[in-house]
Amino acid sequence: MKINGTPYRSVWVNEKDGWSIHIFDQTRLPFSLDILRLTTQQEVAHAIRTMQVRGAPLIGAVAAYGLALTLRQDASDAAMEQNAAMLAATRPTAVNLHWAIDRMLNSLRPVAPENRVAAAYAEAGRICDEDAAQNEAIGRHGLELIREIAKNRPAGTQINLLTHCNAGWIATVDWGTALAPIYMAHDEGLNVHVWVDETRPRNQGAALTAWELGSHGVPHTVIADNAGGHLMQHGQVDLVIVGTDRVTRTGDVANKIGTYLKALAAQDNKVPFWVALPSTTIDWSVANGVTEIPIEERAASEITHVAGRDENGRQTRVQITPDGSPAANPAFDVTPARLVTGLITERGVCPATEEGLRSLFPEQ
Ligand code: MRU
Repeated sequence: MKINGTPYRSVWVNEKDGWSIHIFDQTRLPFSLDILRLTTQQEVAHAIRTMQVRGAPLIGAVAAYGLALTLRQDASDAAMEQNAAMLAATRPTAVNLHWAIDRMLNSLRPVAPENRVAAAYAEAGRICDEDAAQNEAIGRHGLELIREIAKNRPAGTQINLLTHCNAGWIATVDWGTALAPIYMAHDEGLNVHVWVDETRPRNQGAALTAWELGSHGVPHTVIADNAGGHLMQHGQVDLVIVGTDRVTRTGDVANKIGTYLKALAAQDNKVPFWVALPSTTIDWSVANGVTEIPIEERAASEITHVAGRDENGRQTRVQITPDGSPAANPAFDVTPARLVTGLITERGVCPATEEGLRSLFPEQ
């Protein structure tokens, strides 16, 4: 996607600068667009843990490059396996991270140690290219759903979409999952408007989705997380579209905490609830998302404090709870497949069922 007219991906390599990895520091957005240069696997692991990079597909891609950085220092089997395990343990819920590390290991194990660095950069590059292409395809398939709504309305009528968290280009290598169809609809002149859930506690909606949509000129309004149900009751949401961190083979969807409540409200109000994902987000080994998907528990300080910018333009954190009040911070929840209207993948759309997913991915 473009920032001030210049095309960027969310992760890239600079061969002339020691083959370092570059990312945008997402903890600084929307106030500051800082590029971080990562040169060791420890820096990569830190960036993933602290959410300088985040979003399921992007953490997989960055971890793949993290493994390439590891091999620059020590390309032995032992170091590769140990550092792969360390990178895979940085965040538990998004399956893309584990998928990317497994793919890297499977391609690198047969390669002689002296050839591993080049092979690792090449494989990580392919992971990135494929992610960008998959998300573009998701955009085209999701666009059809928005066109369908437009077709049944008087020309130019505003179409109101609602999204939760950030599943845009900054959460993937390019395009995004949930936001890709929205960008394409906007680009072809459809009158789309997006309700952006702020997405407490880390405010990925307010900070990142709003920044992305604003930079691209897409009309949007940031709302409190609890406003969605009210808007749906009043006919102000035509379609909910979210991304996901892990989808079971039966169609259960793990995504940012609060997604499940949006799905319940959508079901009650007969608002279609769609989930956009590349196939790298499907965990074919899991059948029951509620009981089997590990849910990341993050620091209580993300609940007790909010981050923002003060009147002097400085980024700051302020406490919002009484001293001593305990806080719990489950970072994801699982929306059961029965509440999901359908899945948008790079191969097309399908019902959120095992049959639906297998019809698109018969090789599984
Ligand atoms: O904790 P985060 O910000 O990494 O969570 C991200 C999400 O929940 C996204 O919706 C999901 O990863 C899909 S990104 C295309």
